[in-house]
Amino acid sequence: MCGIVGFIGNKEIKNVLLSGLKELEYRGYDSAGLAVLQNGKIDIFKAVGKLKNLVDKTANYAPTGFAAGIAHTRWATHGKPTEINAHPHQGDRAFVVHNGIIENYMSLKETLIKSGAKFVSQTDTEVIAHLYDHFLRDLGEPKAAFARTIEAIEGAYAILLLDEAMDGAIFFAKKHSPLEIGKVGGEIYFASSDAPLVGICDSAIYLEDDSWGWANASEIAIFKDKEPQNTPAKPLPATQTGAQKEGFRFFMEKEIYEQSRVVGETIMGRVAGDSVRFDEIGEGFLDGVSALRLVACGTSYHAAMTACYLFERLAKIEARAEIASEFRYREAILREGELFIVISQSGETADTLEALKLAKKAGVLTLAICNVDNSSIVREAHTAILTRAGIEKGVASTKAFATQTMVLWLLALLIGDRRGAISADLMSREIMAIRKSALALQVREETHDLIRRMTKRYLYGHGFFYIGRDIFYPLALEGALKLKEISYLHAEGYPAGEMKHGPIALADAELFTIALMPRAILREKTRSNVEELIARDSTLLAISGEEFPLADDLLPIAASDHPMLEFYEMMVAIQLLALEIAVRLGNDVDMPRNLAKSVTVE
Ligand code: M6R
Repeated sequence: MCGIVGFIGNKEIKNVLLSGLKELEYRGYDSAGLAVLQNGKIDIFKAVGKLKNLVDKTANYAPTGFAAGIAHTRWATHGKPTEINAHPHQGDRAFVVHNGIIENYMSLKETLIKSGAKFVSQTDTEVIAHLYDHFLRDLGEPKAAFARTIEAIEGAYAILLLDEAMDGAIFFAKKHSPLEIGKVGGEIYFASSDAPLVGICDSAIYLEDDSWGWANASEIAIFKDKEPQNTPAKPLPATQTGAQKEGFRFFMEKEIYEQSRVVGETIMGRVAGDSVRFDEIGEGFLDGVSALRLVACGTSYHAAMTACYLFERLAKIEARAEIASEFRYREAILREGELFIVISQSGETADTLEALKLAKKAGVLTLAICNVDNSSIVREAHTAILTRAGIEKGVASTKAFATQTMVLWLLALLIGDRRGAISADLMSREIMAIRKSALALQVREETHDLIRRMTKRYLYGHGFFYIGRDIFYPLALEGALKLKEISYLHAEGYPAGEMKHGPIALADAELFTIALMPRAILREKTRSNVEELIARDSTLLAISGEEFPLADDLLPIAASDHPMLEFYEMMVAIQLLALEIAVRLGNDVDMPRNLAKSVTVE
């Protein structure tokens, strides 16, 4: 959510900042801006909308020589996506970019206005610039002024600040929002995630919460509670992988097609013969674990829900899934013996990260299932399993979900095995199904073509219901979420058996029901629920491995006797369905309106 880049050095600074932003654009694309400080003068540019608009606006701007600069791509939280609200925000001497939310900005703003500050934007960020100026006037010294500014603000932030009178320097601060620093010779790079640094820096300093400081060509000074810190750098990956569309129309499409391969990689080294192992999980780690609590947001929450069925069915262990933003404030009771599992593609989702911190504080054991190594969630949890999906750029998550569910399925088998809950025969059948998953996830061109043609009948109407039972219920939720995110059509996921308790009142020919109809589990029960809708004239698209003549349309998948294989087949189908509907509606599939890839605000 929002992206931050900063640079101090001798390179062509505009290009460094813009190419850094390019890597982060999918995290927020309401507006973008940059500021460059050189010889006591700051040049600032802002543009509404995608980064391309800023690129066009700065086409004739080509500063050379030593300079310091900051840049930002925005996902609006406070104030509309206008140029005025775009970052950097400025005071008299201060220019600021910020990720996160300053929670006490209203009271700070009132005080600052009384002391003469002139605000122009509706953002919370602007208070940082005016606060700095205010303390600078009071204290007369930039470093002390910045320290006081950070003391005064509450909330979550990653901040970079330029002071017009301090050539070659950038102030920085971090709390609950990621920020890292890379150094190559005399050049210093800042970024809110690895991507802008990969290929440039070998390692990065991941700032800890409550860290702040400044950097210039000769030093990077980091403090925490006024104490100097010596935060070590950690290695960065050597190359950026998977960041090109490789002939696909959209990253999302490419990522759907990649699922078969990446799930194969998720399994690699984790299945040997008829047993499962995770190097990340040490010998005694699961000892004493008697219940599981899975906490996540969005698609990752759907993976958590799916996993609860698997954990209880296969490992015979109590499992409960919760939405992180709800868990945080409901004064949940965590019991001794619970393993607290957080699931996150990005590893930076604020609600999930804070839920994890709460669990750690409560003294329970924590495990992160995450796609991004070195992310805040990975660093915070007691241990982490990486999902190995590779970089996921499409805002609508696809391959991350596939790999999350695979890790969770493997984990259910591992826990079941350790608890003695799984017979050798069941284990062997499960492993066989796991080995077939990559095939179930392969996109068949004829299915994709059929979906492409079929979607023209599913563009209008008054809404979509995705229905399913058991693991196909969270998959129905996921199907509806995918459609909402990129098509902007109203869709709901519902347990098929629950429709008759109210929602069936909506059924008519303009209500599109997408029915997930597996063969391997609750086949007849699901059929009955679907027939109840057909009887009310709902237009029905069945996704099934079996014939279902009552359906208006049938999207055929390969039938299987294992529910997870049907799950993966159907998962690909609902992802492609959402994609093709969005394409027909002319939407930007990879960067849908109002969304951002990583939600680092609560
Ligand atoms: O990075 P995370 O998995 O923690 O993100 C959680 C959600 O924000 C994310 O899954 C979101 O719902 C996606 N846009 C879904 O496609």
